[in-house]
Amino acid sequence: MKGIFITFEGIDGCGKSTQCELLKEYLKDNGRDLIFVREPGGTVIGERIREILLDKKNTQMTARTELLLFEAARAQITDEVIRPALEEGKIVICDRFFDSSSAYQGMARGMGMDFVAGLNMAATGGLAPDVTFFFDISAEEALERRGKRGEASDRIELAGLKFQEDVRRGYLELAKESDGRVITIDATKEIDEIFEVIKDSLKGKI
Ligand SMILES: Nc1ncnc2c1ncn2[C@@H]1O[C@H](COP(=O)(O)OP(=O)(O)O)[C@@H](O)[C@H]1O
Ligand SMILES: [Mg+2]
Repeated sequence: MKGIFITFEGIDGCGKSTQCELLKEYLKDNGRDLIFVREPGGTVIGERIREILLDKKNTQMTARTELLLFEAARAQITDEVIRPALEEGKIVICDRFFDSSSAYQGMARGMGMDFVAGLNMAATGGLAPDVTFFFDISAEEALERRGKRGEASDRIELAGLKFQEDVRRGYLELAKESDGRVITIDATKEIDEIFEVIKDSLKGKI
């Protein structure tokens, strides 16, 4: 495939969207042809799946159903949008991709990282990102960034923190086993400093 597929991962508040924006602007300023996508959604079918996933009325949804709906939306956007763009030689930037399923459903929800990895590959037909940036930060610091400081004392918020830490553990394990695809970035650094690391990591690749 001629293009390059770059994904951004990490818990909520770690800085993914901030760095995606910086990279998009930088590449556009350099005249590069790129598309930016976000999961779940990005296709007509994917948006309908997204509605089901987000609908608060769907309280009966099981963890397995949730996982398979994410994978279904991913299958659609991969075939309809990502693969064709890569074949045209474009840079594809994705704010979250299949590593999110591994970390959230595989690790934090306890469905098993290997189990989810198999479904990820089935959903994408074997397509994996060329480079993945994982922004590592503690759940507490990410929560502070999201402006929710002080709310972390009730039971639900504490369970929330524990859940986010489990997700983080999932990502750390992925990074360890990814043979260099997943690049771990210290997300507590300054925004500009982090962007320099990203540009450095992409040198020679884009
Ligand atoms: N390196 C950083 N240092 C301090 N604050 C940051 C940093 N990166 C992002 N932020 C801020 O943290 C918040 C969450 O960032 P965001 O990019 O939306 O994270 P995500 O998309 O991963 O949830 C935003 O208010 C953003 O401005
Ligand atoms: Mg975001």
